Parts: sequence; structure tokens; C-alpha cells
Amino acid sequence: MTHSHDNAPGPRQAKPALLITGGTGFIGSHTAVVLLESGYSLVLVDSLINSTREVGARIAQLADLEPWGDHLWRHASGSPWLALLQGDVRSARDLDRAFSLMPNRIAGVIHLAGLKSVGESSDEPLNYWDANVSGSITLLRAMEKHDCKTLVFSSSAAVYGETQEVPISESAPLRPTNPYARTKAAIEQILQDLAASRKGWRISILRYFNPIGAHPSGMIGEHPRMPPTNLFPVLCQVANGSRERVEVFGDDWPTPDGSGVRDYLHVLDLADGHALAIRALLEGNAQLTQLNLGTGRGWSVLDLIACLEKISGRAIPAVIAPRRAGDVAVSVADPSRAQAVLGWKARRGLEEMCRDGWAWFSSSHGCSHD
Ligand SMILES: NC(=O)c1ccc[n+]([C@@H]2O[C@H](COP(=O)([O-])OP(=O)(O)OC[C@H]3O[C@@H](n4cnc5c(N)ncnc54)[C@H](O)[C@@H]3O)[C@@H](O)[C@H]2O)c1
Repeated sequence: MTHSHDNAPGPRQAKPALLITGGTGFIGSHTAVVLLESGYSLVLVDSLINSTREVGARIAQLADLEPWGDHLWRHASGSPWLALLQGDVRSARDLDRAFSLMPNRIAGVIHLAGLKSVGESSDEPLNYWDANVSGSITLLRAMEKHDCKTLVFSSSAAVYGETQEVPISESAPLRPTNPYARTKAAIEQILQDLAASRKGWRISILRYFNPIGAHPSGMIGEHPRMPPTNLFPVLCQVANGSRERVEVFGDDWPTPDGSGVRDYLHVLDLADGHALAIRALLEGNAQLTQLNLGTGRGWSVLDLIACLEKISGRAIPAVIAPRRAGDVAVSVADPSRAQAVLGWKARRGLEEMCRDGWAWFSSSHGCSHD
């Protein structure tokens, strides 16, 4: 279905209640703000292994909600409301509590909870298969039990792995190159099998490219507890002086400046994509759709460094290191299916991503975990 609107969430009107796993994480917190602003009530379930409880209050504040109880907030008019539950997606009991926490039926789930460090996944593969795959199976069983069969799942461009296609469309072969990416591809397979069982599941698999940036308020952002490995947080740490330099993995790629090219997108554009995806599912029939969420435009590592240097006014020393196994020269989305199906298009440019991301990492909230 094609919608004629742009990404704007529209006026706040009462909408159904949704559950977001991993709801206090980087992408979850931004998605929660966007969904609350467009009227959905939310239960956030998060184990807090990579985020903090305080994020709940900040989401509430950004969405203009008032405290209403223990980890519970609501708008002055009574709706929407927000509940935060500390729980693990591998626990059927925690999920039962989440589905029954509020009197409203949960109409759909946005499943973001999981572990996401590519490097760590090679060292601790069992943790990744357990959190990502076992966690997803436990969640899907809980959804069946509570008669909720509408799901937006956060997959990753990492599932394409060594695919050489540029730009990458959803029909490109999946060639994941590390345990993290293989867990995402495995969950996608499970979801395909579930859709084929013809029990009325409505599923949207979103393959994110490289989300960066933050809410412009500087109140929520990426909050890694472990030392970050993604490029943007590393660059911010170099810019704020908590890390000496950044390693650029390869300067001999077949790209204009020799460094790797990636499709960076603003986390708020990604959040808008989730809002449109869940709405399309709630209004649609049984389906399984895979959608790339990216800008369709590539930026090199050196472009990103130059942009952040300009925005922050700080020097970001870089050293060239050997290429890493499994990396590709260029990974850029063909986002045309998301535009055709959802009417979604990334609107924010690289400078805005760097400005908002830097505002977060240089704020007291953002650097509290350095
Ligand atoms: N950030 C990226 O670059 C990126 C790219 C592609 C895909 N993704 C996927 O998007 C999702 C969200 O990523 P993010 O960047 O917001 O990460 P994040 O770590 O900030 O958020 C994930 C949240 O899930 C929680 N969590 C982890 N294991 C859990 C469990 N077993 N039960 C309940 N909660 C648990 C963490 O505490 C955290 O708050 C992940 O599934 C990730 O793989 C992220």
C-alpha cells in the first residue's frame, strides 16, 4: 500500500497499545518518542543490559507525559501512556507480565532487544544465539499465547554480508559473515517459516543500514555500556578526548578516497520508518515484508570524520589500519521498496546526523558512560 503522506507523525490521536522490546536502547528510545507523539501507548520491556532506567523518564519528558506511578507515565489527557518494565525477552514470565501489565490489549510488537556487537559476537557466539535467536523464539511464543501476531523486527544490513551489489536491494543474496549477522539471518528465516504457516502473522522485517545521530534535544542517544565499536561513537570519543585516535580499516578500497563507504541514516528517520511500518501492518493483511531502511547515499569513513571535525570544531586524528576480514568496500541501500510500501524516505542529511549525535555525546547524559 502506498501512503501519500510524508514521514511526519501527524496529530496526536488515541491509537492502540504496542510493546517495544529493547525500548530503552538507542533505536528503541527514539522510536518510542515518535510513537508516543503520534498517539500510541507503549509498554517498553528491556533487560537494561545496555541502557538505563532513566531513559524511560526522558522518553516521557520528550513526549510530554507526566509521572503516573512507578515507571509509568501518561499524557494530561489520559492517553497515551508509557510503561517501562525491566525484563528479559528470554523469559516467558517477564513477557507474560509485559503483555498483561496494562488493561489494554497489545496490538503489535516492535522487537529491538538483542546484542549487537559484531566483534563480541565472534568471541561469545552462544550469548548472541541465546539473546537474539532464543529471545526471539520466546517472544514469538508469547505473542501467539497473547493472540498478538503483528511484528516489526529489527534486522540489519549485516545480513547481506559479502554481497557485492551496489546499491543493495532486498532481493540480494544473504551472505552474513559473522555470528551477529547469522543470528539476524536465522531470525529472518524463522519469521518466514512462521508467515508460511498461514496463521495470520503480519510481519515487517526492517534491515537497517548505519543509524547514527540522536534526538536534537541531547536527552536520548546511543548509550553503549561497553567500549563502542561502531564508527560514529568512536569518532565522538576521539573528538571529546576520551580516546586518542580512530583506526581506519583500509585505505585501498575501490572507493573515491580509498576508505569504506557506508549508508548512514539519522536515528529519527529510522524511528519514523518503524512508525510507518507498524501502522501499515495494523491496517494491512497477513504478510511478510523485508524493507531496507537507508538513505540510498554513501559516505566514506573519511567523509564522516571530516563532517564531525567541522561540526565539533575538534581534530579527529586517524591512523590507517589493515582491512578487516568480512568488510566490503561499499554498503549502500536501495531504499525504493520502503518508499513504495510505506511512503518512507530518509529526510535528514549527514550534517544533521553529526550535529545531533555530537550534541548527545558531548552532553552530560551522553558522556556519563565514557
Ligand atoms: N545500532 C545499529 O547500528 C544497528 C544496526 C542494525 C540493526 N540493529 C539492531 O537494532 C536493535 C536495537 O539496536 P540499538 O542500536 O538500539 O542497540 P541498543 O543496545 O542500544 O538497544 C538494545 C536494547 O536491548 C536490550 N536488551 C539486550 N538484550 C536483551 C534481552 N535479552 N532482553 C531484553 N532486553 C535486552 C538492551 O538493554 C538495550 O537497551 C538490535 O536488535 C540491533 O541488532 C542495530
